Amino acid sequence: MANTRKLADADVFPIGLGGMPMSLAGRPEEARSIRAIHAALDAGVNLIDTADAYAQDDTEVGHNERLIAKALRGRRDGVIVATKGGHIRPGGSWAIDSSPRHLREACEASLKALETDRIDLYQLHRPDSDVPYAESIGALKELQDEGKVRWVGVSNANTDQIEEARSIVEIVSVQNQLSLEYTAPVELGEVALCERYGLAFLPWSPLGGISSASDAAGAHDPVSDAAEAHGVSPQRVALAWLLALSPVMIPIPGATRPETITDSLQAAELELSRDELDAISEAAGVAPQRA
Ligand SMILES: NC(=O)c1ccc[n+]([C@@H]2O[C@H](COP(=O)([O-])OP(=O)(O)OC[C@H]3O[C@@H](n4cnc5c(N)ncnc54)[C@H](OP(=O)(O)O)[C@@H]3O)[C@@H](O)[C@H]2O)c1
Repeated sequence: MANTRKLADADVFPIGLGGMPMSLAGRPEEARSIRAIHAALDAGVNLIDTADAYAQDDTEVGHNERLIAKALRGRRDGVIVATKGGHIRPGGSWAIDSSPRHLREACEASLKALETDRIDLYQLHRPDSDVPYAESIGALKELQDEGKVRWVGVSNANTDQIEEARSIVEIVSVQNQLSLEYTAPVELGEVALCERYGLAFLPWSPLGGISSASDAAGAHDPVSDAAEAHGVSPQRVALAWLLALSPVMIPIPGATRPETITDSLQAAELELSRDELDAISEAAGVAPQRA
């Protein structure tokens, strides 16, 4: 596999697949999502991101995990499935329960939904203001010690929380929001911290999120200009810019159609010039020297 990035000691394709749009309200019929997953695997993807909470509501928790497990039957070798615990979906809302008791139950349910006896990467979905962070992370360490989880990661964590998590358990990844429209992890030092410790940084909603991904990237002139110059989509340019920001970056664009994920994955081969990268960074409000 050419041009790979590191997640723990594994070589992964520089771009993963995010499963969330396949399971929320407005999702397509299952067969289309499965075709999208297979198209990603065919193109070399070996990291798929999911969560127990990717479902329409609490009556179908694990929807996305079950869908991914089904799509991977017979072709799971070498594929890293990253899931998360800590969100609950009462009545379709997004609430948080990162208590050790809930995380344990959620992990057991994810093991079943994913049809596995060990989760490749288990991420704390979000800090819970009612639970000390150390307790939530401690629960993930226990699950790892019991062999139910291979690697531990955090999500929606600031630099203090990343440091705190590392003092309790070895973490291999940080999954935070990062896109042309939302660059806080660069400014706040979360990406730099990942570089320092060799943690993978998995930008979520790297195209601006499910409802805006069709036009968010193209709204920036330097992105449109580069897209036109290279004859590619603005989404591909946006992902290539993220990849150029840091070697620890592994974006996980969501998709429900084979053609969108196939297009996005080709960002791994798109070489933008230094001038193009600097102009995009400037439009996004990121110091150009970082790109
Ligand atoms: N940790 C967290 O708290 C958190 C929060 C949000 C998301 N996430 C993770 O991050 C992943 C990505 O975020 P996201 O799904 O919210 O948003 P996103 O990746 O910014 O956008 C997803 C949408 O982009 C479209 N798309 C993908 N590639 C495209 C292309 N080349 N051209 C045009 N459209 C394209 C897809 O359309 P089609 O559906 O038509 O294919 C999809 O609906 C999620 O799936 C989830 O795994 C994590």
